Amino acid sequence: MSANTIADNRHRHNLEAMTEIWLFGYGSLLYKIDFPVLEQRKASVRHWVRRFWQGSHDHRGTPDAPGRVLTLVEEQGSLCQGLAFRVEPGVFEHLDHREKNGYLRHCATLLFADGEQTEGLLYVADENNAAWAGPASITRIARQIKASVGPSGRNEDYVLKLADALRAFDYEDEHVFSIERALLSE
Ligand code: SIN
Repeated sequence: MSANTIADNRHRHNLEAMTEIWLFGYGSLLYKIDFPVLEQRKASVRHWVRRFWQGSHDHRGTPDAPGRVLTLVEEQGSLCQGLAFRVEPGVFEHLDHREKNGYLRHCATLLFADGEQTEGLLYVADENNAAWAGPASITRIARQIKASVGPSGRNEDYVLKLADALRAFDYEDEHVFSIERALLSE
């Protein structure tokens, strides 16, 4: 099932008057940067956590056998570490297509390591989208991921590449690392 959010995203923010925008990436945007970037910085967003709760029917699974990919879930007091990319607005045409299976653009305050902050956009898939997979135990999530493959490749590779990227940036994420451990121990 496709949740196709391309049209919704176009209407959510009018980017026409802008010359550049900050984008926050926390999932595949950390290891697959297939768009032009003016500047890249380590950054975090407050009150969000990474969760493998979004179904993937188009990249890491199929409509009959969806995989699981990351989304952000609100959690007061938490901090999600990722990357901030300064980009030209035209990049969002590509990103809206890439993130079309249920993700909507949201505004967020991006915090940089040196204490500076800026407003930016990030993609979130919530429980109201048709591809939502929802919470499950680490074991069940890992089992579903192990069994899934789609046009972008094995679902397992999404997790392994992401975990490597998090380590390379010195980031901790127990949710991601415990799924990685479950995948590697099978
Ligand atoms: C992101 O990486 O910021 C969005 C979710 C994804 O593409 O994995």
